[in-house]
Amino acid sequence: MRKPQDIVGILKAAGESTRLRILALLAQGELSVKDLTEILDQSQPRVSRHLKLLADAEMVTRHAEGAWAYFRLNREAASGALNDWIVSHIDADATALRGDRDKLAALRAMQRQRAADFFSTIAGDWDRLRSLHVPEAAVEEAILAAVGGEVESFLDLGTGTGRMLELLAGHYRRAVGLDSSREMLALARAKLDAEQIDHAQVRLGDITDLADHAGSADLVMLHQVLHYFDDPGVPLGRAGACLRPGGRIVVVDFAPHDHEFLRSEQAHRRLGLSDQQMEVWGRNAGLDIHHARQFPPRAEDGLTVCLWVLAQAA
Ligand SMILES: C[S@@+](CC[C@H](N)C(=O)[O-])C[C@H]1O[C@@H](n2cnc3c(N)ncnc32)[C@H](O)[C@@H]1O
Repeated sequence: MRKPQDIVGILKAAGESTRLRILALLAQGELSVKDLTEILDQSQPRVSRHLKLLADAEMVTRHAEGAWAYFRLNREAASGALNDWIVSHIDADATALRGDRDKLAALRAMQRQRAADFFSTIAGDWDRLRSLHVPEAAVEEAILAAVGGEVESFLDLGTGTGRMLELLAGHYRRAVGLDSSREMLALARAKLDAEQIDHAQVRLGDITDLADHAGSADLVMLHQVLHYFDDPGVPLGRAGACLRPGGRIVVVDFAPHDHEFLRSEQAHRRLGLSDQQMEVWGRNAGLDIHHARQFPPRAEDGLTVCLWVLAQAA
Protein backbone atom coordinates (compact mmCIF):
# COMPACT_ATOMS: atom_id res chain seq x y z
CA MET A 1 0.00 0.00 0.00
CA ARG A 2 1.23 3.50 -0.79
CA LYS A 3 0.73 6.64 1.27
CA PRO A 4 -1.74 9.12 -0.27
CA GLN A 5 1.05 11.71 -0.76
CA ASP A 6 3.08 9.12 -2.72
CA ILE A 7 0.11 8.52 -5.03
CA VAL A 8 -0.24 12.28 -5.53
CA GLY A 9 3.49 12.37 -6.41
CA ILE A 10 3.06 9.57 -8.97
CA LEU A 11 0.00 11.19 -10.55
CA LYS A 12 1.71 14.58 -10.67
CA ALA A 13 4.77 13.03 -12.30
CA ALA A 14 2.65 11.41 -15.00
CA GLY A 15 0.26 14.36 -15.36
CA GLU A 16 2.21 16.57 -17.77
CA SER A 17 2.37 16.40 -21.53
CA THR A 18 6.18 16.25 -22.04
CA ARG A 19 6.45 13.57 -19.36
CA LEU A 20 3.71 11.57 -21.05
CA ARG A 21 5.69 11.82 -24.30
CA ILE A 22 8.77 10.59 -22.42
CA LEU A 23 6.84 7.62 -21.02
CA ALA A 24 5.51 6.79 -24.49
CA LEU A 25 9.05 6.94 -25.91
CA LEU A 26 10.50 4.79 -23.14
CA ALA A 27 7.82 2.19 -23.84
CA GLN A 28 9.87 1.48 -26.97
CA GLY A 29 13.10 0.83 -25.10
CA GLU A 30 15.88 2.39 -23.06
CA LEU A 31 16.94 5.88 -24.05
CA SER A 32 19.73 8.18 -22.97
CA VAL A 33 19.15 11.78 -21.86
CA LYS A 34 21.00 12.78 -25.03
CA ASP A 35 18.53 10.83 -27.21
CA LEU A 36 15.53 12.29 -25.37
CA THR A 37 16.90 15.83 -25.64
CA GLU A 38 17.24 15.46 -29.42
CA ILE A 39 13.84 13.87 -29.91
CA LEU A 40 11.89 16.25 -27.68
CA ASP A 41 13.86 19.26 -28.94
CA GLN A 42 14.11 20.66 -25.42
CA SER A 43 17.17 21.75 -23.46
CA GLN A 44 19.07 19.09 -21.54
CA PRO A 45 18.42 20.66 -18.07
CA ARG A 46 14.71 20.73 -18.87
CA VAL A 47 14.61 17.13 -20.00
CA SER A 48 16.69 16.12 -16.97
CA ARG A 49 14.19 17.88 -14.68
CA HIS A 50 11.30 15.92 -16.21
CA LEU A 51 13.27 12.69 -15.85
CA LYS A 52 14.11 13.43 -12.23
CA LEU A 53 10.44 13.89 -11.40
CA LEU A 54 9.60 10.62 -13.14
CA ALA A 55 12.47 8.82 -11.38
CA ASP A 56 11.46 10.22 -7.96
CA ALA A 57 7.97 8.81 -8.53
CA GLU A 58 9.58 5.46 -9.55
CA MET A 59 7.95 5.65 -12.98
CA VAL A 60 11.35 5.32 -14.65
CA THR A 61 14.66 3.89 -13.54
CA ARG A 62 17.98 5.57 -14.15
CA HIS A 63 21.23 3.85 -14.98
CA ALA A 64 24.38 6.00 -15.03
CA GLU A 65 27.10 4.92 -17.46
CA GLY A 66 30.18 7.12 -17.72
CA ALA A 67 29.13 10.53 -19.00
CA TRP A 68 25.69 9.27 -20.05
CA ALA A 69 22.59 8.16 -18.18
CA TYR A 70 20.02 5.73 -19.56
CA PHE A 71 16.37 5.60 -18.55
CA ARG A 72 13.86 2.81 -18.81
CA LEU A 73 10.18 2.48 -17.99
CA ASN A 74 9.70 0.94 -14.56
CA ARG A 75 7.26 -1.92 -14.92
CA GLU A 76 7.96 -3.34 -11.49
CA ALA A 77 7.30 -0.72 -8.79
CA ALA A 78 3.79 0.32 -7.72
CA SER A 79 3.85 2.93 -10.49
CA GLY A 80 4.47 0.14 -13.03
CA ALA A 81 0.74 -0.55 -13.21
CA LEU A 82 0.12 3.10 -14.07
CA ASN A 83 2.85 2.95 -16.72
CA ASP A 84 1.17 -0.13 -18.23
CA TRP A 85 -2.18 1.65 -18.22
CA ILE A 86 -0.76 4.79 -19.86
CA VAL A 87 1.12 2.84 -22.53
CA SER A 88 -1.88 0.69 -23.41
CA HIS A 89 -4.39 3.59 -23.46
CA ILE A 90 -2.45 6.42 -25.02
CA ASP A 91 -3.28 7.11 -28.67
CA ALA A 92 0.04 6.24 -30.29
CA ASP A 93 -1.11 7.95 -33.49
CA ALA A 94 -1.58 11.35 -31.86
CA THR A 95 0.49 13.84 -33.86
CA ALA A 96 3.05 14.62 -31.14
CA LEU A 97 3.68 10.95 -30.35
CA ARG A 98 3.93 9.97 -34.00
CA GLY A 99 6.44 12.79 -34.51
CA ASP A 100 8.50 11.55 -31.53
CA ARG A 101 8.42 7.99 -32.84
CA ASP A 102 9.58 9.11 -36.29
CA LYS A 103 12.42 11.11 -34.75
CA LEU A 104 13.45 8.12 -32.64
CA ALA A 105 13.47 5.89 -35.74
CA ALA A 106 15.59 8.47 -37.61
CA LEU A 107 17.98 8.77 -34.66
CA ARG A 108 18.39 4.99 -34.43
CA ALA A 109 18.95 4.75 -38.20
CA MET A 110 21.66 7.38 -37.94
CA GLN A 111 23.31 5.58 -35.01
CA ARG A 112 23.16 2.26 -36.90
CA GLN A 113 24.73 3.94 -39.91
CA ARG A 114 27.53 5.30 -37.72
CA ALA A 115 28.19 1.81 -36.35
CA ALA A 116 28.07 0.33 -39.88
CA ASP A 117 30.54 2.99 -41.09
CA PHE A 118 32.81 2.15 -38.19
CA PHE A 119 32.70 -1.58 -38.93
CA SER A 120 33.28 -1.05 -42.64
CA THR A 121 36.44 0.88 -41.74
CA ILE A 122 37.85 -1.58 -39.23
CA ALA A 123 36.64 -4.86 -40.77
CA GLY A 124 40.11 -5.80 -42.05
CA ASP A 125 41.60 -5.22 -38.61
CA TRP A 126 38.85 -6.81 -36.52
CA ASP A 127 40.46 -10.20 -35.90
CA ARG A 128 43.44 -8.41 -34.37
CA LEU A 129 41.36 -5.82 -32.47
CA ARG A 130 38.92 -8.34 -31.01
CA SER A 131 41.60 -10.03 -28.95
CA LEU A 132 43.20 -6.85 -27.58
CA HIS A 133 42.99 -6.42 -23.83
CA VAL A 134 40.55 -9.30 -23.32
CA PRO A 135 41.23 -12.83 -22.07
CA GLU A 136 40.16 -14.31 -25.41
CA ALA A 137 41.50 -17.86 -25.04
CA ALA A 138 39.84 -18.37 -21.64
CA VAL A 139 36.56 -16.95 -22.93
CA GLU A 140 36.55 -19.16 -26.01
CA GLU A 141 37.30 -22.22 -23.87
CA ALA A 142 34.35 -21.32 -21.63
CA ILE A 143 32.09 -20.83 -24.66
CA LEU A 144 32.97 -24.32 -25.91
CA ALA A 145 32.31 -25.75 -22.44
CA ALA A 146 28.98 -23.91 -22.15
CA VAL A 147 27.83 -25.17 -25.55
CA GLY A 148 28.81 -28.74 -24.69
CA GLY A 149 27.59 -31.30 -27.23
CA GLU A 150 26.31 -30.86 -30.75
CA VAL A 151 23.26 -28.74 -31.59
CA GLU A 152 21.17 -28.96 -34.72
CA SER A 153 20.88 -25.29 -35.54
CA PHE A 154 23.09 -22.34 -34.55
CA LEU A 155 22.38 -18.67 -35.13
CA ASP A 156 25.28 -16.24 -34.68
CA LEU A 157 23.92 -12.70 -34.34
CA GLY A 158 26.37 -9.94 -35.29
CA THR A 159 28.73 -12.59 -36.66
CA GLY A 160 31.34 -10.06 -37.81
CA THR A 161 34.24 -11.93 -39.36
CA GLY A 162 32.61 -15.24 -38.38
CA ARG A 163 34.89 -16.20 -35.49
CA MET A 164 32.07 -17.88 -33.55
CA LEU A 165 31.01 -19.88 -36.63
CA GLU A 166 34.60 -21.06 -36.89
CA LEU A 167 35.09 -21.75 -33.16
CA LEU A 168 31.89 -23.79 -32.89
CA ALA A 169 32.07 -25.47 -36.31
CA GLY A 170 32.35 -28.90 -34.70
CA HIS A 171 29.32 -28.25 -32.47
CA TYR A 172 26.49 -27.55 -34.91
CA ARG A 173 24.94 -29.30 -37.89
CA ARG A 174 24.02 -26.06 -39.64
CA ALA A 175 24.51 -22.41 -38.84
CA VAL A 176 23.61 -18.95 -40.03
CA GLY A 177 25.64 -15.85 -39.15
CA LEU A 178 23.89 -12.51 -39.51
CA ASP A 179 25.50 -9.12 -39.72
CA SER A 180 24.63 -5.68 -41.05
CA SER A 181 28.14 -4.96 -42.36
CA ARG A 182 28.93 -6.15 -45.89
CA GLU A 183 32.63 -5.65 -45.22
CA MET A 184 32.56 -7.90 -42.14
CA LEU A 185 30.55 -10.52 -44.03
CA ALA A 186 33.01 -10.56 -46.93
CA LEU A 187 35.73 -11.52 -44.43
CA ALA A 188 33.48 -14.07 -42.74
CA ARG A 189 32.78 -15.72 -46.12
CA ALA A 190 36.48 -15.84 -46.91
CA LYS A 191 37.16 -17.40 -43.49
CA LEU A 192 34.47 -20.07 -43.92
CA ASP A 193 35.84 -20.89 -47.39
CA ALA A 194 39.42 -21.07 -46.16
CA GLU A 195 38.43 -23.36 -43.28
CA GLN A 196 36.14 -25.40 -45.55
CA ILE A 197 33.22 -24.84 -43.19
CA ASP A 198 30.38 -25.56 -45.58
CA HIS A 199 27.63 -26.20 -43.04
CA ALA A 200 27.52 -22.49 -42.10
CA GLN A 201 26.41 -19.53 -44.17
CA VAL A 202 26.40 -15.80 -43.53
CA ARG A 203 23.72 -13.31 -44.50
CA LEU A 204 23.28 -9.58 -44.47
CA GLY A 205 20.61 -8.57 -41.97
CA ASP A 206 19.65 -6.46 -39.02
CA ILE A 207 19.46 -8.43 -35.80
CA THR A 208 16.56 -6.35 -34.52
CA ASP A 209 14.50 -7.83 -37.35
CA LEU A 210 14.63 -11.60 -36.99
CA ALA A 211 11.11 -12.59 -38.03
CA ASP A 212 12.54 -14.99 -40.65
CA HIS A 213 14.41 -16.88 -37.93
CA ALA A 214 11.61 -17.21 -35.34
CA GLY A 215 11.74 -20.54 -33.48
CA SER A 216 14.62 -21.79 -35.65
CA ALA A 217 17.67 -22.16 -33.40
CA ASP A 218 18.89 -24.44 -30.62
CA LEU A 219 21.74 -22.10 -29.90
CA VAL A 220 21.93 -18.33 -30.42
CA MET A 221 25.15 -16.38 -29.89
CA LEU A 222 25.53 -12.67 -29.16
CA HIS A 223 29.29 -12.33 -28.91
CA GLN A 224 30.48 -8.77 -28.30
CA VAL A 225 27.39 -7.34 -29.95
CA LEU A 226 24.95 -6.08 -27.31
CA HIS A 227 27.05 -3.06 -26.31
CA TYR A 228 26.41 -1.57 -29.77
CA PHE A 229 22.73 -1.09 -28.85
CA ASP A 230 21.21 1.64 -26.71
CA ASP A 231 18.72 -0.91 -25.46
CA PRO A 232 20.42 -4.32 -25.45
CA GLY A 233 17.08 -5.74 -24.25
CA VAL A 234 15.73 -5.34 -27.81
CA PRO A 235 18.19 -7.65 -29.65
CA LEU A 236 18.17 -10.00 -26.63
CA GLY A 237 14.37 -10.26 -26.88
CA ARG A 238 14.58 -10.89 -30.64
CA ALA A 239 17.20 -13.57 -29.97
CA GLY A 240 14.83 -15.19 -27.46
CA ALA A 241 12.11 -15.39 -30.12
CA CYS A 242 14.52 -17.35 -32.37
CA LEU A 243 14.89 -20.20 -29.85
CA ARG A 244 13.42 -23.61 -30.34
CA PRO A 245 12.04 -25.23 -27.17
CA GLY A 246 14.97 -26.10 -24.92
CA GLY A 247 17.31 -23.76 -26.82
CA ARG A 248 19.92 -21.48 -25.25
CA ILE A 249 21.40 -18.07 -25.81
CA VAL A 250 25.06 -17.42 -25.09
CA VAL A 251 25.91 -13.76 -24.52
CA VAL A 252 29.50 -12.62 -24.22
CA ASP A 253 30.10 -8.96 -23.50
CA PHE A 254 31.99 -6.54 -21.32
CA ALA A 255 31.28 -5.99 -17.63
CA PRO A 256 30.52 -2.35 -16.71
CA HIS A 257 33.58 -0.15 -17.31
CA ASP A 258 34.42 3.52 -17.66
CA HIS A 259 36.35 3.60 -20.94
CA GLU A 260 34.37 6.49 -22.37
CA PHE A 261 36.63 6.57 -25.47
CA LEU A 262 35.04 3.32 -26.65
CA ARG A 263 31.85 5.30 -27.13
CA SER A 264 33.43 8.22 -28.94
CA GLU A 265 35.97 6.25 -30.99
CA GLN A 266 34.64 2.72 -31.43
CA ALA A 267 30.88 3.09 -31.80
CA HIS A 268 30.06 1.44 -28.45
CA ARG A 269 26.72 2.65 -27.06
CA ARG A 270 26.84 0.97 -23.64
CA LEU A 271 29.84 0.91 -21.33
CA GLY A 272 29.46 -2.76 -20.47
CA LEU A 273 26.52 -4.74 -19.13
CA SER A 274 25.88 -5.82 -15.54
CA ASP A 275 24.38 -9.07 -14.22
CA GLN A 276 21.45 -7.07 -12.86
CA GLN A 277 20.74 -5.49 -16.24
CA MET A 278 21.02 -8.86 -17.96
CA GLU A 279 18.52 -10.26 -15.48
CA VAL A 280 16.00 -7.47 -16.19
CA TRP A 281 16.43 -7.63 -19.99
CA GLY A 282 16.18 -11.43 -19.79
CA ARG A 283 13.08 -11.35 -17.60
CA ASN A 284 11.36 -8.91 -20.00
CA ALA A 285 12.11 -11.34 -22.84
CA GLY A 286 10.90 -14.41 -20.89
CA LEU A 287 14.46 -15.65 -20.35
CA ASP A 288 16.28 -16.85 -17.23
CA ILE A 289 20.02 -16.69 -16.67
CA HIS A 290 21.28 -20.27 -16.22
CA HIS A 291 24.95 -19.55 -15.93
CA ALA A 292 27.14 -16.46 -15.55
CA ARG A 293 30.89 -16.15 -15.39
CA GLN A 294 33.42 -13.34 -15.42
CA PHE A 295 36.89 -13.23 -16.94
CA PRO A 296 39.24 -10.63 -15.50
CA PRO A 297 41.41 -8.68 -17.95
CA ARG A 298 44.94 -9.71 -18.85
CA ALA A 299 46.30 -6.19 -18.58
CA GLU A 300 45.62 -3.47 -16.02
CA ASP A 301 43.84 -1.29 -18.57
CA GLY A 302 41.92 -4.24 -19.98
CA LEU A 303 38.26 -5.08 -19.72
CA THR A 304 36.46 -7.78 -17.78
CA VAL A 305 34.48 -10.06 -20.07
CA CYS A 306 31.25 -11.76 -18.95
CA LEU A 307 29.60 -14.86 -20.30
CA TRP A 308 25.91 -15.50 -19.68
CA VAL A 309 23.84 -18.49 -20.74
CA LEU A 310 20.11 -17.80 -20.93
CA ALA A 311 17.16 -20.03 -21.72
CA GLN A 312 13.40 -19.64 -21.90
CA ALA A 313 11.95 -19.22 -18.42
CA ALA A 314 10.18 -22.31 -17.07
C1 LIG B 1 32.27 -6.23 -32.19
S1 LIG B 1 31.69 -7.03 -33.60
C2 LIG B 1 31.59 -8.68 -33.00
C3 LIG B 1 31.66 -9.68 -34.11
C4 LIG B 1 31.70 -11.15 -33.66
N1 LIG B 1 30.51 -11.53 -32.93
C5 LIG B 1 32.95 -11.40 -32.88
O1 LIG B 1 32.89 -11.52 -31.66
O2 LIG B 1 34.02 -11.42 -33.48
C6 LIG B 1 30.00 -6.54 -33.62
C7 LIG B 1 29.31 -6.90 -34.89
O3 LIG B 1 27.93 -6.59 -34.74
C8 LIG B 1 27.45 -6.11 -35.98
N2 LIG B 1 26.22 -5.34 -35.77
C9 LIG B 1 26.07 -4.20 -35.06
N3 LIG B 1 24.78 -3.81 -35.08
C10 LIG B 1 24.11 -4.74 -35.84
C11 LIG B 1 22.77 -4.88 -36.24
N4 LIG B 1 21.82 -4.01 -35.87
N5 LIG B 1 22.43 -5.95 -37.00
C12 LIG B 1 23.38 -6.85 -37.38
N6 LIG B 1 24.67 -6.76 -37.03
C13 LIG B 1 25.04 -5.71 -36.26
C14 LIG B 1 28.59 -5.27 -36.52
O4 LIG B 1 28.51 -5.08 -37.92
C15 LIG B 1 29.80 -6.11 -36.10
O5 LIG B 1 30.21 -6.99 -37.11
